[in-house]
Amino acid sequence: MSVLQTPVTVRVPATSANLGPGFDTLGLALDLYDEITVEAVPSGLHIDVTGAGAGEVPLDETHLVVRSMQAAFDLLGEKPAGLRLTCRNVVPHGRGLGSSAAAIVGGLLAARALVEGEDRLDDAALFQLATDLEGHPDNVAPALFGGLTISWVDGAAAAVERLDCQVPVTVFVPPTAVSTAEARGLLPATVPHGDAVFNAGRAALLVAALLHAPERLISATEDRLHQSYRSAAMPESYRLVRSLRVEGVPAVISGAGPTVLAFARGIDDACPEGWALHHLDVDAGGATVR
Ligand code: HSE
Repeated sequence: MSVLQTPVTVRVPATSANLGPGFDTLGLALDLYDEITVEAVPSGLHIDVTGAGAGEVPLDETHLVVRSMQAAFDLLGEKPAGLRLTCRNVVPHGRGLGSSAAAIVGGLLAARALVEGEDRLDDAALFQLATDLEGHPDNVAPALFGGLTISWVDGAAAAVERLDCQVPVTVFVPPTAVSTAEARGLLPATVPHGDAVFNAGRAALLVAALLHAPERLISATEDRLHQSYRSAAMPESYRLVRSLRVEGVPAVISGAGPTVLAFARGIDDACPEGWALHHLDVDAGGATVR
């Protein structure tokens, strides 16, 4: 057992979950990255955050990266005496682009690297821990493995199937956040059987559309399980999704929102005033450690 005395840097991609019909299941890694550097120090906890969330996130042991690192250290049975953490955040917070998954996956990978614990915490176990911390697997799966992921939970066991996929993406990021807890609170306990059937078909079609049938994307991104229920929390985003779709652009709410994701380029004019726009590609590799 040993603790590295050199810094570890982890880069984690943004992710978009659901992709329309694949609620809590489908996820896509995108080439927008958070970077965290951790270093063992003789004592104390020193946290520096720049970029997204700076001045808002706590700078103590409740910081999500630190909580995730602690979960990994608990499992690995070893931790450094003190810790210096530097977060360079690019993924916007509370927008449905996987910032919490990036923090969790980044923290777990950083902790594992710091105590050289790969033999005791392999990627499958780390994915399970990340899913437990996040509560659902659809962002942590692509954050960790890259590409397009189909993830699910069997009992308590998280599972994933990763697929290679390249598709051009535009995201429209509104200036205000919506919490995932609030968005999940808007969902009904039960849905009509017909809506479940509708989504099962669209989710299956979406995997095919993303892999080799882009002409199917407009049908394949239809959803009846979550977006309309959540529209009251993000009316402008919902309107934008609908107006893009009327024009034939496959647009969805990214994750729990309120970012709007479209599988298209050349639609910059649709960006509402005051929103940020990014042209993104799929990240194939997932999180990296150096
Ligand atoms: N599938 C999740 C949701 C993603 O839509 O609530 C948000 O983390």
